[in-house]
Amino acid sequence: MYLKMHLLYRPAYSGLVFSRGSIATCLRRGKSLIKPSLCRNISLSCQRYTVMTSWIIDRYGRNDVLRFSNSMLFPVIRFPNEVIIKVHAASLNPIDVNMRNGYGAAALNMKRDPLKLKSSGSEFPLILGRDVSGEIMECGLNVSYFKPGDEVWAAIPPWKQGTVSEFVVASGNEVSHKPKSLSHTEAASLPFVSLTAWSAMKQIGGLNQDNCSGKRILIFGASGGVGTFAIQLMKAWGGHVTAVCSQDASTLVKKLGADHVIDYKSGDVAEQLKMLPLFDFILDNVGGATENWSPNFLKKWSGATYVTLVTPFLLNVDRLGVADGMLQTGVTIGTKAVKHLCKGVHYRWAFFTPSGQSLDEITELVDSGKIRPVVEQVFSLSEVPKAFLKLEEGHARGKTVINVINKK
Ligand SMILES: NC(=O)c1ccc[n+]([C@@H]2O[C@H](COP(=O)([O-])OP(=O)(O)OC[C@H]3O[C@@H](n4cnc5c(N)ncnc54)[C@H](OP(=O)(O)O)[C@@H]3O)[C@@H](O)[C@H]2O)c1
Repeated sequence: MYLKMHLLYRPAYSGLVFSRGSIATCLRRGKSLIKPSLCRNISLSCQRYTVMTSWIIDRYGRNDVLRFSNSMLFPVIRFPNEVIIKVHAASLNPIDVNMRNGYGAAALNMKRDPLKLKSSGSEFPLILGRDVSGEIMECGLNVSYFKPGDEVWAAIPPWKQGTVSEFVVASGNEVSHKPKSLSHTEAASLPFVSLTAWSAMKQIGGLNQDNCSGKRILIFGASGGVGTFAIQLMKAWGGHVTAVCSQDASTLVKKLGADHVIDYKSGDVAEQLKMLPLFDFILDNVGGATENWSPNFLKKWSGATYVTLVTPFLLNVDRLGVADGMLQTGVTIGTKAVKHLCKGVHYRWAFFTPSGQSLDEITELVDSGKIRPVVEQVFSLSEVPKAFLKLEEGHARGKTVINVINKK
């Protein structure tokens, strides 16, 4: 299926850059000047792609900025640790709607082009979508963990081109072998939300399978993408979960394992929480006023931690510019952390963190049946604007998935 072809005889890939000096030199000099023995063979698919289909935006704005293109340039491997993934399914997260609107553009552009060498707007055409489940098409020279044809899943960081597309490039350390027990549609629903919950609860919150048993966990926004994963993770690690959600989501969160459910629409949540024992850990997927009062329900002076996913970091950078925005952010988090520490609890912010290694661990939890995907609605590639509108309406009950390759 896959031909061993000589890199230099493949015009569609002539932009590739490799770490090996000899190969880069070969590419610069052109075919006639080099000895073939100086260049390594790599495995390339027999099909020659130069363009691909994607949903893109050429400017920020409302849903009408989404545009279908069947002439996006096929992505190239620029670093030897990268892979090209053929996307079978992708999924949407609130960040996709926010990025479409221009949220985070200043910080993300700084990451894309730290020296500001490119002109403004150089991020366009921009492909949205962070989650992918698919198969490896090509591997960079330093990739040994994957080979073409492997079924993989990944969450791609927001400063890179996204997954609502036929192909996407990822760094090998962002990618993991997909759980065998899941279809691509199911698998695409998990990477971004699971890595976000993993970062918040394990890396920032310090919870793990060895210390979670019997701990009391409170989750706000339990019915969404992050919440539905977080409930299952805490139950898999032996925690006791209280989930805060709308009444119509209570059956869903109970099925996922929540021990206690609080309906935030039927009365004051703080009043209902007063009747329960204090908590060891709070995951806040809602933010706003919740963060002012909910840390009061943590056990004092026992290492209990409040972690929120709703932070002003990207907004500050958009509003104030990179330097002032980061300074303002540092002052805000520092002040809040100290204020809470004086009251005997930890206050933290958490962010999505791409990691193939963490996804490997999540794969084990999924394949052992401890975590299952919660797919609310599936759209085809032609229905992407509808999928964005669905997400924009809010009230998610799990995830919105896009089948890039339509299943018969
Ligand atoms: N910092 C990061 O890197 C990072 C990464 C991922 C996500 N996030 C943020 O984390 C939040 C959650 O993400 P997600 O993907 O889970 O979003 P989502 O899928 O849209 O879920 C949000 C859920 O919260 C529920 N909800 C809304 N208001 C609520 C309230 N007052 N109390 C309890 N539940 C409430 C919604 O349902 P109802 O409205 O029907 O109740 C919905 O089920 C979003 O704000 C997102 O932007 C941050």
